Amino acid sequence: MANLIDFTQPSLYLSAATILFNPLYWNLAARNEYHHRTLTTLFNHNALHANYALALSIFLLGLARDAVYESALRAQPTHPFLLHPISQALAVALVGSGTVLVLSSMYALGITGTYLGDYFGILMDEMVTGFPFNVTGSPMYWGSTMSFVGTALWFGKPAGLVLAGLVWGCYRVALGFEDPFTREIYARRERERGKKAS
Ligand SMILES: *[C@@H]1O[C@H](CO)[C@@H](O)[C@H](O)[C@H]1NC(C)=O
Repeated sequence: MANLIDFTQPSLYLSAATILFNPLYWNLAARNEYHHRTLTTLFNHNALHANYALALSIFLLGLARDAVYESALRAQPTHPFLLHPISQALAVALVGSGTVLVLSSMYALGITGTYLGDYFGILMDEMVTGFPFNVTGSPMYWGSTMSFVGTALWFGKPAGLVLAGLVWGCYRVALGFEDPFTREIYARRERERGKKAS
């Protein structure tokens, strides 16, 4: 085990901490917004500007998390098995298709749709059902996880696979909170539309 993962490297724990922190941060911030409108109040009651500010903070935290992950990988032992050409080809395929999923999802949803606008009362007119949502219900999460796995393979780092597993686990838990919440927000709009129509 010692030659697969170096548990004495502080960067390993820093990376795990940033992976855990990010989804926790945006779920707490978004729920707080939904119940107390803290950011919207801070931004002169402009929900759109408040949402953009949260989006920017989530985006920057994501960049920091990725940078910490990469530097943590550099401090870890490399396993030759992962440097095999098949594994390297898989790395390129995973990072490539993961990036396509993330970027196409952002393109389809826009900034507010990507970054929890529904918690600010900014709802999409229609549910997006085209690509990449016809491939997976959560393209952002799958795409991001695939990029983490691909990066671990690319650098040949078993520790990266463990951290990528942690990313996947965090997203699973986050989805368990986010999906029912989003469904309820949209269901409420439908009920209100129904009331108006009748
Ligand atoms: C998803 O939709 C795109 C067009 O929006 C289409 O080209 C693609 O084949 C669809 N994929 C699946 C798995 O249905």
